[in-house]
Amino acid sequence: MDVIIPASQGILAYPISRKTGIQLGYAELEKLPDGEKYVRIPENVDGKQVYIVNSFAHIPDELIIETLFLIDTFKELGAKKVIGIFPYFPYSRLMRRFIRGEAAKLKSVAKLFKVAGLDKMYVVDFHQRDFDEIFDFEVVDITAMHLLAGYAKKNFQLESPFVVGADEVAEYWAEIVARELNSEYALMRKIRIDAENVVVDSVPKEVVNKDVVIVDDIISTGGTVVQAIKALKAAGARRIYAACTHPALSNEALKMIYHAGIDGIVGTDTVLSPISYVSVADLISESILSS
Ligand code: R5P
Repeated sequence: MDVIIPASQGILAYPISRKTGIQLGYAELEKLPDGEKYVRIPENVDGKQVYIVNSFAHIPDELIIETLFLIDTFKELGAKKVIGIFPYFPYSRLMRRFIRGEAAKLKSVAKLFKVAGLDKMYVVDFHQRDFDEIFDFEVVDITAMHLLAGYAKKNFQLESPFVVGADEVAEYWAEIVARELNSEYALMRKIRIDAENVVVDSVPKEVVNKDVVIVDDIISTGGTVVQAIKALKAAGARRIYAACTHPALSNEALKMIYHAGIDGIVGTDTVLSPISYVSVADLISESILSS
């Protein structure tokens, strides 16, 4: 018998439980006055396969610790397998050390999950393509791009669509959206100055008079999309839209994007936000049912 447990940011456990028929379970999770986490699993998980749902946005470190406690406790209580459903996985943008002495954060998180006893995880639009090098357990990466494209088709005014990937990493996603929209795609070139500032130094010339959909996996500070909007407007694009899987939207990101003149924007519910119009619950459920 399988059981699915919503952790602090695990609201997707409810629709996934309904769709898959996996029994919904419960874990007591509390933040203590001194900032520590309290975790208790009241039910019997001996011999069961346990799914933990948590999306690590906004407070990744706290959620990672909570998840490690859950994995470790489930294993100690005799769970046969522990499987993570982690729609938004943090620290994924830095795969390896670029500057001497800097922490290889993704690698460290991967090791911690392995040591705690995680057997497998489901993620959605993971930032890196070659994650097999990093994780020492099975990873199922699901893309939500065709759902985002479906939303764009219905809700954006796309008379003459053109897809622009926010940078070179976005090619995989831009290609999927372009195929669904029956359009061409091209990539911008982006130079990151620091966490909040980027320079877009090359815009595809095909955007003139086109309705452009900017495609990215994550919108965090909004710096990338804001600079993209400015560059696309200057290059003669007609309407400008944005679609992302993970609307992490820190600080004033959304306000800045609207001020820059976006005509429409959509994200999924891997991170709950005011633009999470598309749900990945069915996608994840189907992936679980087919594996
Ligand atoms: C980076 O390579 C990612 O794909 C996104 O482009 C990036 O995370 C966006 O971040 P921000 O919104 O802070 O510019």
